[in-house]
Amino acid sequence: MTSQIQLEQVINGLNLDLSWEYAAMIQYIQHTPVCSRAPEYTAVIDELLEHAQEEHEHAVVLSDLIQYLGGIPTVEVANRLTSLNNVEMLRQDLQVEYDAIRRYLQRIEQLEALQLYDSAQKIRNIAVVEQEHAIDLEKALGIQKVQSGTVYPFSHNP
Ligand SMILES: [Fe+2]
Ligand SMILES: [Fe+2]
Repeated sequence: MTSQIQLEQVINGLNLDLSWEYAAMIQYIQHTPVCSRAPEYTAVIDELLEHAQEEHEHAVVLSDLIQYLGGIPTVEVANRLTSLNNVEMLRQDLQVEYDAIRRYLQRIEQLEALQLYDSAQKIRNIAVVEQEHAIDLEKALGIQKVQSGTVYPFSHNP
Protein backbone atom coordinates (compact mmCIF):
# COMPACT_ATOMS: atom_id res chain seq x y z
CA MET A 1 0.00 0.00 0.00
CA THR A 2 1.44 3.36 -0.99
CA SER A 3 1.80 6.03 1.64
CA GLN A 4 -0.63 8.25 -0.33
CA ILE A 5 -3.39 5.63 0.01
CA GLN A 6 -2.46 5.18 3.68
CA LEU A 7 -2.69 8.94 4.19
CA GLU A 8 -6.12 9.07 2.53
CA GLN A 9 -7.27 6.23 4.79
CA VAL A 10 -6.14 8.03 7.92
CA ILE A 11 -7.79 11.29 6.81
CA ASN A 12 -11.05 9.37 6.24
CA GLY A 13 -10.67 7.84 9.67
CA LEU A 14 -10.05 11.24 11.27
CA ASN A 15 -13.20 12.57 9.59
CA LEU A 16 -15.14 9.65 11.05
CA ASP A 17 -13.67 10.54 14.46
CA LEU A 18 -14.68 14.18 13.92
CA SER A 19 -18.29 13.22 13.14
CA TRP A 20 -18.36 11.24 16.42
CA GLU A 21 -16.88 14.18 18.37
CA TYR A 22 -19.68 16.45 17.07
CA ALA A 23 -22.20 13.75 18.04
CA ALA A 24 -20.69 13.28 21.51
CA MET A 25 -20.76 17.03 22.15
CA ILE A 26 -24.45 17.27 21.16
CA GLN A 27 -25.33 14.16 23.16
CA TYR A 28 -23.66 15.51 26.32
CA ILE A 29 -25.27 18.95 25.92
CA GLN A 30 -28.70 17.29 25.60
CA HIS A 31 -28.07 14.83 28.46
CA THR A 32 -26.99 17.54 30.92
CA PRO A 33 -30.46 19.13 31.45
CA VAL A 34 -32.39 15.87 30.91
CA CYS A 35 -30.43 13.98 33.60
CA SER A 36 -32.72 13.99 36.64
CA ARG A 37 -31.80 16.27 39.55
CA ALA A 38 -31.55 13.53 42.14
CA PRO A 39 -28.85 14.50 44.70
CA GLU A 40 -26.58 11.60 43.71
CA TYR A 41 -26.43 12.98 40.15
CA THR A 42 -25.37 16.56 41.02
CA ALA A 43 -21.65 15.90 40.45
CA VAL A 44 -22.40 13.80 37.36
CA ILE A 45 -24.33 16.64 35.72
CA ASP A 46 -21.33 18.98 36.13
CA GLU A 47 -19.09 16.32 34.58
CA LEU A 48 -21.36 15.84 31.56
CA LEU A 49 -21.14 19.53 30.74
CA GLU A 50 -17.36 19.44 31.15
CA HIS A 51 -17.22 16.45 28.78
CA ALA A 52 -19.29 18.41 26.21
CA GLN A 53 -16.74 21.24 26.32
CA GLU A 54 -13.84 18.81 25.90
CA GLU A 55 -15.54 17.06 22.95
CA HIS A 56 -15.82 20.52 21.36
CA GLU A 57 -12.06 21.04 21.88
CA HIS A 58 -11.37 17.62 20.33
CA ALA A 59 -13.46 18.53 17.28
CA VAL A 60 -11.37 21.69 16.82
CA VAL A 61 -8.07 19.77 17.14
CA LEU A 62 -9.27 17.13 14.64
CA SER A 63 -10.47 19.75 12.14
CA ASP A 64 -7.08 21.48 12.23
CA LEU A 65 -5.24 18.16 11.93
CA ILE A 66 -7.34 17.00 8.95
CA GLN A 67 -6.65 20.27 7.17
CA TYR A 68 -2.94 20.06 8.03
CA LEU A 69 -2.78 16.57 6.48
CA GLY A 70 -4.43 17.84 3.29
CA GLY A 71 -8.04 16.82 3.90
CA ILE A 72 -11.32 18.71 4.26
CA PRO A 73 -12.94 18.48 7.69
CA THR A 74 -16.43 16.97 7.58
CA VAL A 75 -19.67 18.61 8.75
CA GLU A 76 -21.36 15.20 9.11
CA VAL A 77 -22.65 14.34 12.58
CA ALA A 78 -22.68 10.70 13.71
CA ASN A 79 -25.55 9.06 15.56
CA ARG A 80 -26.77 10.49 18.90
CA LEU A 81 -28.68 8.59 21.56
CA THR A 82 -30.79 9.81 24.44
CA SER A 83 -33.05 8.45 27.15
CA LEU A 84 -35.19 9.72 30.02
CA ASN A 85 -33.54 7.17 32.29
CA ASN A 86 -30.33 8.41 33.93
CA VAL A 87 -28.54 5.06 33.98
CA GLU A 88 -29.43 4.32 30.36
CA MET A 89 -28.23 7.78 29.37
CA LEU A 90 -24.88 7.35 31.13
CA ARG A 91 -24.49 3.92 29.51
CA GLN A 92 -25.03 5.55 26.10
CA ASP A 93 -22.31 8.10 26.91
CA LEU A 94 -19.93 5.39 28.13
CA GLN A 95 -20.36 3.39 24.92
CA VAL A 96 -19.46 6.50 22.89
CA GLU A 97 -16.28 6.86 24.96
CA TYR A 98 -15.27 3.19 24.60
CA ASP A 99 -15.83 3.41 20.83
CA ALA A 100 -13.79 6.63 20.64
CA ILE A 101 -10.85 5.10 22.54
CA ARG A 102 -10.88 2.05 20.22
CA ARG A 103 -10.89 4.26 17.10
CA TYR A 104 -8.17 6.60 18.42
CA LEU A 105 -5.82 3.71 19.24
CA GLN A 106 -6.24 2.53 15.66
CA ARG A 107 -5.62 6.09 14.40
CA ILE A 108 -2.38 6.36 16.44
CA GLU A 109 -1.13 3.14 14.81
CA GLN A 110 -2.03 4.42 11.33
CA LEU A 111 -0.31 7.78 11.88
CA GLU A 112 2.82 6.19 13.35
CA ALA A 113 3.00 3.77 10.40
CA LEU A 114 3.33 6.93 8.27
CA GLN A 115 5.93 8.30 10.72
CA LEU A 116 3.55 11.17 11.54
CA TYR A 117 4.55 11.07 15.20
CA ASP A 118 3.52 14.68 15.86
CA SER A 119 -0.01 14.03 14.57
CA ALA A 120 -0.15 10.74 16.50
CA GLN A 121 0.73 12.71 19.66
CA LYS A 122 -2.30 14.96 19.16
CA ILE A 123 -4.55 11.89 18.95
CA ARG A 124 -2.85 10.37 21.98
CA ASN A 125 -3.69 13.52 23.97
CA ILE A 126 -7.35 13.21 22.95
CA ALA A 127 -7.41 9.48 23.75
CA VAL A 128 -6.16 10.18 27.29
CA VAL A 129 -9.06 12.60 27.86
CA GLU A 130 -11.55 10.03 26.49
CA GLN A 131 -10.16 7.51 28.96
CA GLU A 132 -10.79 10.03 31.77
CA HIS A 133 -14.36 10.47 30.47
CA ALA A 134 -14.86 6.70 30.52
CA ILE A 135 -13.50 6.49 34.09
CA ASP A 136 -15.89 9.30 35.22
CA LEU A 137 -18.86 7.43 33.69
CA GLU A 138 -17.80 4.04 35.06
CA LYS A 139 -17.65 5.60 38.54
CA ALA A 140 -21.05 7.28 38.09
CA LEU A 141 -22.52 3.94 37.00
CA GLY A 142 -20.82 2.04 39.83
CA ILE A 143 -19.01 -0.25 37.39
CA GLN A 144 -16.50 -2.36 39.30
CA LYS A 145 -14.00 -4.09 37.02
CA VAL A 146 -12.02 -5.88 39.71
CA GLN A 147 -13.02 -9.56 39.78
CA SER A 148 -13.96 -10.92 43.18
CA GLY A 149 -11.21 -13.18 44.45
CA THR A 150 -8.40 -11.17 42.82
CA VAL A 151 -8.16 -8.64 45.65
CA TYR A 152 -6.61 -9.83 48.88
CA PRO A 153 -7.41 -8.10 52.15
CA PHE A 154 -4.60 -6.25 53.87
CA SER A 155 -3.32 -8.23 56.77
CA HIS A 156 -3.01 -6.64 60.21
CA ASN A 157 -0.56 -9.39 61.19
CA PRO A 158 2.59 -9.01 59.08
FE1 LIG B 1 -13.69 13.64 22.45
FE1 LIG C 1 -15.21 11.88 25.53
